[in-house]
Amino acid sequence: MSYFIWQDSYELGIEIVDTQHKKLVDLISDLLQSSILNHDNQKVEDILQQLVKYTEYHFAEEEKLMIESNFPKFEEHQMIHQSFVEKVNEFYMKFTRKEIALEIQILNYLKNWLINHILITDKEFATFYLNYKSIQ
Ligand SMILES: [Fe+2]
Ligand SMILES: [Fe+2]
Repeated sequence: MSYFIWQDSYELGIEIVDTQHKKLVDLISDLLQSSILNHDNQKVEDILQQLVKYTEYHFAEEEKLMIESNFPKFEEHQMIHQSFVEKVNEFYMKFTRKEIALEIQILNYLKNWLINHILITDKEFATFYLNYKSIQ
């Protein structure tokens, strides 16, 4: 299944963050497998719930590093995190209420959001954090 696989270019150099990003890539890839390929609604619901929880967990961990290093764009980054959690939670709620199906457009949205967030927004923080660490 090559819909969404980890690329070396996603690596930011902060081990805990990279490990958690890999897990998010896996969850989105599993979602595709269970929805578009297997049509297993129960599994889709389970993975969506895991995705909500793991996204919240990852964002909180990343934000701890921002606070630790006094990252100047913390609030802006945190707001971006919050709106994504709301969006994923909305997909989850609507799916459980059978108001939406998990179509390829939603999977593409999740995938593209994560790639862009890692490569631009998280990359900016990682550069700042690694520099902060190097002078500690
Ligand atoms: Fe992240
Ligand atoms: Fe982030």
